[in-house]
Amino acid sequence: MRIGNIETGNIALGPMAGFSDMPFRALCREQGASLTYTEMISAKALMYNNRNTIPLLTIGDGEDCLGVQLFGSEPDVMAEQAARLCTKPYAFIDINMGCPVPKIVNNGEGSALMKDPEKAAAIIKAMSEVSSKPVTVKIRKGFNNANAVDFARLAQDSGAAAITVHGRLREEYYSGKADWDIIRQVKQAVSVPVIGSGDIFKAEDAIRMFEETGCDGIMVARGARGNPWIFRQIRDLMEGRPLVNDGRPELEEVKEMIIRHLNMQIEFIRGFSQPDGRGLSVEEAAVRQMRTHVGFYSAGFSNSASLRRKINSAETLDEFLTILTKWDA
Ligand SMILES: Cc1cc2nc3c(=O)[nH]c(=O)nc-3n(C[C@H](O)[C@H](O)[C@H](O)COP(=O)(O)O)c2cc1C
Repeated sequence: MRIGNIETGNIALGPMAGFSDMPFRALCREQGASLTYTEMISAKALMYNNRNTIPLLTIGDGEDCLGVQLFGSEPDVMAEQAARLCTKPYAFIDINMGCPVPKIVNNGEGSALMKDPEKAAAIIKAMSEVSSKPVTVKIRKGFNNANAVDFARLAQDSGAAAITVHGRLREEYYSGKADWDIIRQVKQAVSVPVIGSGDIFKAEDAIRMFEETGCDGIMVARGARGNPWIFRQIRDLMEGRPLVNDGRPELEEVKEMIIRHLNMQIEFIRGFSQPDGRGLSVEEAAVRQMRTHVGFYSAGFSNSASLRRKINSAETLDEFLTILTKWDA
């Protein structure tokens, strides 16, 4: 797939605020994700050099196909930050026009921009004009009516070099079934690459999305939580290899992944002087962050509920590792 002047992969890990940080992205890339995104970052917070944005901006070693995702509603602020980010080795700059959260929407940001196509076009245009990197857009099916097709055309005309479509309205948040037909319709309406997002939870879904929508790339978000292997499975299926053990990793592989994830999280947090402002040690902060991940990694294994309960009360590295080692699914 080509986004502007750059060759990118077409199996994307979707941006997930609070989840898709650099360590998690590294594990997904190792398993086969070929396109990654930072979590969404406020252009205003960047403008004020807010310290909380620093970890979000991290680029992993060898993370060649990383898009930095910005949200905001002011064309000049968005353009100024795009110009600034161009000097960093991101592959492209993505604009969030899909976030459904009230705090964001009430500021006219995220999916609210789908209600204001003129403003959205002004943002894309302003950013594309100053950016030496391709500017891409991530949208939904619409806000409360399905305007993704017209919106995507306008985005393309305003300078968007690729468009990701999550097939749900804002008011649907993440519920119900994603509408893949809207992805197909957008793909037919524009000439820039279209990446489809919504409800890829197993490798077969990815293949089906390519086939049913004709999209250029697919994006996995929730389906990657606790399951970086989904990318390996998608690659296996795409390259005609059968899925071993129906694609599921063995317990030992899961444990090994959790421990590597933990160690990467420790190193990641260590890179920033104030891990979380709560006076925790680097290891303790990492253990807390790993609680959510372990919940996802263990889903589907027996004894996962009792593992989750124990891990959620683990404070220290020793406690965490002891509980994990004793986990016998
Ligand atoms: C916890 C969470 C955080 C998310 N954060 C972002 C974000 O920062 N930027 C964005 O464009 N989409 C975000 N999304 C949306 C996903 O990237 C994706 O489009 C959506 O979840 C549908 O795909 P899925 O069914 O594969 O999860 C988020 C989704 C979830 C569940």
